[in-house]
Amino acid sequence: APDVPLANVKAHLTQLQSIATANGGNRAHGRPGYLASANYVKGLLDAAGFTTQLQSFTYNSATGYNVIADWPGGDSNDILMVGAHLDSVTAGPGINDNGSGSAAILETALLVARQGLQPTKHLRFAWWGAEEGGLRGSQYYVNNLPAADRSRIKGYLNFDMVASPNAGYFIYDGDNSDGVGSGPGPSGSAQLEQVLQEYFTSIGVPTRGTDFDGRSDYGPFISVGIPAGGTFTGAEGTKSSAQASLWGGTAGQAFDSCYHRSCDTTANINDTALDRNADAVAYAVWTIATAVPPV
Ligand code: PHE
Ligand code: ZN
Ligand code: ZN
Ligand code: ZN
Ligand code: CA
Repeated sequence: APDVPLANVKAHLTQLQSIATANGGNRAHGRPGYLASANYVKGLLDAAGFTTQLQSFTYNSATGYNVIADWPGGDSNDILMVGAHLDSVTAGPGINDNGSGSAAILETALLVARQGLQPTKHLRFAWWGAEEGGLRGSQYYVNNLPAADRSRIKGYLNFDMVASPNAGYFIYDGDNSDGVGSGPGPSGSAQLEQVLQEYFTSIGVPTRGTDFDGRSDYGPFISVGIPAGGTFTGAEGTKSSAQASLWGGTAGQAFDSCYHRSCDTTANINDTALDRNADAVAYAVWTIATAVPPV
């Protein structure tokens, strides 16, 4: 898989920060900074040749939007989806949460276009609205998928917070192989975990599993039996001394001490973590979407 240029991913974060700054400091559901963020993403995807939709829904008396972008071609009965929530909380600009995942998948999508990738699977990217209100955009999307379409989606990869300053390298534990926490994901989730694991092994970065505890947009997908996977660098949780030995950083401090705060700005980004996770997105997309069925 090709390298995702870190500078391009960071340029998207700079744009999302500017959008927040120009719109009262946030990109939250129902606020003008959210729609401006959605239009920014959609404009780039349209120009690159994606077929896009702005899917609107209502939550809390405000209109929310998902940006759905299909890359033309591939087997329409065999779809890989890749998603990230694009909204922030009202407290701040949401650059790590979740500008980071949004920018990583955006630049991967643009790379698909630049390379003229012709995957065997059909590729669909999604930027979800109103995650912070309780996974509202992704839930709306899944609720409104016709049953036939539901069964065509063979996997969903989620990226929410992938550049935490005091980063951990977590992969959703599709098989619950550590036997800890919530159960395994739907059958097929273990393969998604494996592909992401393969990438981190190839760059010599150790990882740990993180449970499908329902805190991000994979939730509605696993609820209907769609296999899911993804990565995460940690939120408000505290890095343990064992984790600091494994990954560096500071034990006893939060993975992201600016989580849901006004300081979640472009200064709140770990470039190394962002670079590794963006490359992991591309690795997974190239590996899974170009695999010869039935993998
Ligand atoms: N979804 C949470 C948020 O946006 C963050 C989170 C992501 C927590 C993944 C746990 C796992 O605030
Ligand atoms: Zn959040
Ligand atoms: Zn988030
Ligand atoms: Zn596992
Ligand atoms: Ca587990």
